[in-house]
Amino acid sequence: MVLKDNIPYHVAIIMDGNGRWAVEKGLPRKEGHRHGVETVRSVVRNSSELGIKALTLFAFSTENWRRPVGEINYLMGLPEIYFKSELPELMRNNVKVNLLGSKEKLPRKVQKTIDEGREATKNNTGMILNFALNYGARTEIIRAVNRLIVDAKEGKISGAVNEAAFEKYLYTASLPDPDLLIRTSGELRISNFLLWQLAYSELWFTDVYWPDFSKRHLLNAVYDYQQRKRRFGKV
Ligand code: IPE
Ligand code: IPE
Ligand code: MG
Repeated sequence: MVLKDNIPYHVAIIMDGNGRWAVEKGLPRKEGHRHGVETVRSVVRNSSELGIKALTLFAFSTENWRRPVGEINYLMGLPEIYFKSELPELMRNNVKVNLLGSKEKLPRKVQKTIDEGREATKNNTGMILNFALNYGARTEIIRAVNRLIVDAKEGKISGAVNEAAFEKYLYTASLPDPDLLIRTSGELRISNFLLWQLAYSELWFTDVYWPDFSKRHLLNAVYDYQQRKRRFGKV
């Protein structure tokens, strides 16, 4: 069983494999996404119960715009479905919602849903739930650099910029880096997720597709994390 005193503070998840889950069942890909939302519900509840303080879910990447428009449209309808049914439970569990990614390219209704979710939960003091939507790490870093240049021109920065100062310009400003990164579906790659922040995260991969990812898998990941020796370059 997992140790209560060594729960990862920040867990990030690349929720992958919805499409293959569906296709292997002879279903349209969107059915996989629909079931994937159910997994989001359970993983949020279980993470908060476990005492994880921040959960970051990769829901849509800057590269996912390359998908067929029908699939994109279906995916863009999911935040509304999720928040409509889940907001009362998020409130009960004291969860605070946040967005990682650029809002601009998202359809108006998604922007509105996210804004409302953030607003409703802004005073909650429990787990922080970050949705990475229209998120890409390289875009995030370039955005940070450009915002930094503006601040430098306005005289708000003096001298060289160090890591701590740079991090303030990322979407994750004020959040500690993920302790644990989970990726489902058997792919062994990062896919442009949190490139800066994952520098020292423990990585955990499973072949399980996201719609089948259960509490048991989450506990396994946390248990494995607790067996790791994090050295951060030391001996
Ligand atoms: C993850 O599942 C959801 C998103 C990337 C939006 P996929 O849709 O990538 O499913 P696979 O990887 O094609 O099976
Ligand atoms: C990563 O999954 C993005 C999300 C889970 C939202 P992808 O399915 O887009 O990644 P690749 O294309 O297999 O690398
Ligand atoms: Mg995928």
